[in-house]
Amino acid sequence: MDKLVITGGRPLVGRVKVSGAKNATLPLMCATLLSPGRHRLHNVPDLRDVRTMARLLATLGAKVEQKGDELSVDSAPSRGMEAPYELVKTMRASVLCLGPLVARHGRARVSLPGGCAIGARPIDQHLKGLEALGCKLDISGGYVEATAKRLKGADISLDLVTVTGTENLMMAASLAKGASVLRNAAREPEVVDLANALNAAGARIEGAGTATITIHGVDGLAALDHRVMPDRIEAGTYMVAAAITRGELTIADAPLEHLTAVVGKLKEAGVRFQPTPKGVIVSSRRAPKPVTIITGPYPGFPTDMQAQLMAFMCLSTGSSVIQETIFENRFMHVAELRRLGADVEITGSTALVKGARKLSGAPVMATDLRASACLVLAALAAHGETHISRVYHLDRGYERIDQKLTAAGAQVRREKE
Ligand code: EPZ
Repeated sequence: MDKLVITGGRPLVGRVKVSGAKNATLPLMCATLLSPGRHRLHNVPDLRDVRTMARLLATLGAKVEQKGDELSVDSAPSRGMEAPYELVKTMRASVLCLGPLVARHGRARVSLPGGCAIGARPIDQHLKGLEALGCKLDISGGYVEATAKRLKGADISLDLVTVTGTENLMMAASLAKGASVLRNAAREPEVVDLANALNAAGARIEGAGTATITIHGVDGLAALDHRVMPDRIEAGTYMVAAAITRGELTIADAPLEHLTAVVGKLKEAGVRFQPTPKGVIVSSRRAPKPVTIITGPYPGFPTDMQAQLMAFMCLSTGSSVIQETIFENRFMHVAELRRLGADVEITGSTALVKGARKLSGAPVMATDLRASACLVLAALAAHGETHISRVYHLDRGYERIDQKLTAAGAQVRREKE
């Protein structure tokens, strides 16, 4: 396993380019299962999770090739119907193959995702929607088997907002007979990106990006040919990197229109933004002012940026309050932040972050993807050297983060643990 060794205290100055969005790429890769053909995805990030999804598609018989940021999937040969536990347990997003497989082949057998570091994360809403679409579900041995002669359009009210639940059902409904309505749907930009790609291939999806999505089923889809949207969470993470090191970063391809809640909070804390034709310049010259953050479904403050803002608030001039409303256990980074000198108190799903004058380097351990990003940010600002172990968590969702940071003046090196 690798670790990152970061010597903090240096302002980041320079330019980073945002890669394609992980959470758009993963559902788009599963969407290639909906129809035979040579699908092409552009601006695909080189991430551990993308490679895992490629392995899953290959397990299902598809031919997957990634050259740089171009991904091609020939799903004609895909006959497989089973997503095995060995893969699903490493990446929950594997359940996104359920809808496409049962829509195209009438059958799918997918391992139930185990829990994960940030919470139980069941898929009951995915299954409720598939049953409404006419699937017969059989759950045994840790797997769910879904069968249906042909899916039939349905009016589905989701009990809670679920991003991949919305995506799974939108993909399944796109090949159903008749019209479907998804109510209380997730409004994330990644849902819109998927709908755009499917519509370009002949689907008839209306209302993506709103809480009510209408899908008129079609008999078949053409191959996808789609450019993946930029990663708003990667962009937000680099915004905090510029601010926490009191530097100045040009962040190319930053999707500002997808980051209004994050930019709003950073501006409240005193961070400066200067939009450019293809991105934004982010800078800060002083300790941040404290802010209150409550995470929520899009367009609320994204839970995937909660840990990163906490790192920033550890150096604020006062006390900040951060409430996590999406996942029941997404404060795994707090114990590690405390090792760097942070003063954070947790009460239930709320963290009270008292700003410290400084953080000091120490050995810490990554526990999940965004917690790892939080530790990198804190290490960039901490005095001295920080060793972050288990960076495979980081490699799941941040393309070449050590190289991108080094190019902007950070002292980061990757070593074997
Ligand atoms: C997506 O996960 C993202 N992953 C997550 O990003 C992100 O944190 C999350 O949405 C929330 O924005 C991908 O898009 C691949 P949910 P997802 O279904 O879809 C509960 C990252 O760091 N729930 O919106 O799995 C669930 O337990 C990752 O990039 C049910 O109870 O999240 C959670 O508490 C982490 N039943 C809440 O809803 C269900 O059937 C939101 O989950 C589905 C979800």
